[in-house]
Amino acid sequence: MFAAKKVALCRQARSLAMATWLAWGLAWCGAQAAPGAASAPDPRPLTAAAPLARPASAPIPVSPLQDSIAQRVDACTTCHGADGRAGPDGYYPRLAGKPAGYLANQLLNFRDGRRSYAPMVYLLDHLNDAYLREIAAYFASLDIPYPPPVRPTETSTVLARGQILVLQGDAARGIPACVQCHGQMLTGVAPAIPGLLGLPRHYLAGQIGAWHNGRRRAQAPDCMADVARRLSPDDVSAVASWLSSQPWPTGAKPAAGLPHALPMPCGGVPDPAKPAPAPAPRSAP
Ligand code: HEC
Ligand code: HEC
Repeated sequence: MFAAKKVALCRQARSLAMATWLAWGLAWCGAQAAPGAASAPDPRPLTAAAPLARPASAPIPVSPLQDSIAQRVDACTTCHGADGRAGPDGYYPRLAGKPAGYLANQLLNFRDGRRSYAPMVYLLDHLNDAYLREIAAYFASLDIPYPPPVRPTETSTVLARGQILVLQGDAARGIPACVQCHGQMLTGVAPAIPGLLGLPRHYLAGQIGAWHNGRRRAQAPDCMADVARRLSPDDVSAVASWLSSQPWPTGAKPAAGLPHALPMPCGGVPDPAKPAPAPAPRSAP
């Protein structure tokens, strides 16, 4: 137990050190992409090509910077894996292919203190909403294969209990079925509800636990917090085990919308039962 805690603490400390030097590049590049984001440190002038002989007074040649979003998010993929496919041990969550509005809401949640993980908060601290949405849209657009499901180690009774909660809920205890919000195929619903397949069991259980004890919050009304508080520890273990043993359906994407109203209102998620607001004019950079 103590050893596990120590590993987690060391990982956090290492991550914070890594984030410190990554933040500079991200903030500077972000300022280029979205003027008005962080105040930019003044970088050395960039020269396109290195001259063969350089007089002592000439600027130091630097290889040209391709200012692409893929390059700017190097600061993120260091932890989240190449193309945001998740870190090797499942500790750093997958970003690729999750709905853009969901990812943007999470970046806002970290920046604005509803979720806390020090290195992420540090990285996002000075980035403006427009830049966060651009980063979110980039990761949402990546089509990366999902890992195969794991072989469950729990008993068939536990798995059956998990399956019933996910597909039918438990009306007597006010628990709506997970599919009512996360989509019939559980691959998520655009723009702001994530899928529940292709994620490690301990990640699923950890996130529900974080809602349960208030460490993870979403915009109000926080429907997931209500759902999480109605689940017992055994329920959480059962749903996480069943979900992680199901494959991501080949080629599936988040559903375009829900065919019915949400069973309870969720902050930051447009309700399909209400007419969509007129599209906001593109904010000037
Ligand atoms: C030092 C490692 C590290 C770096 C660098 C990092 N992240 Fe994270 N990120 C994490 C961890 C760990 C979590 C999960 C924290 C938790 O469970 O609350 C996370 C969570 C997230 C989430 C929420 C995922 C979900 O499905 O809920 C998003 C989105 C995200 N990060 C995006 C980014 C972006 C974009 C960057 C670059 C600007 C970035 N991260 C940089 C470690 C990192
Ligand atoms: C009333 C709608 C609703 C219901 C019912 C619901 N969820 Fe959610 N869930 C959400 C929303 C909305 C989010 C995204 C919240 C946010 O923006 O942070 C979410 C996020 C999650 C996440 C985080 C995923 C990630 O990648 O980090 C998990 C895990 C989750 N839900 C599990 C469940 C399970 C298991 C059930 C069924 C027992 C369930 N949810 C039922 C609306 C719902």
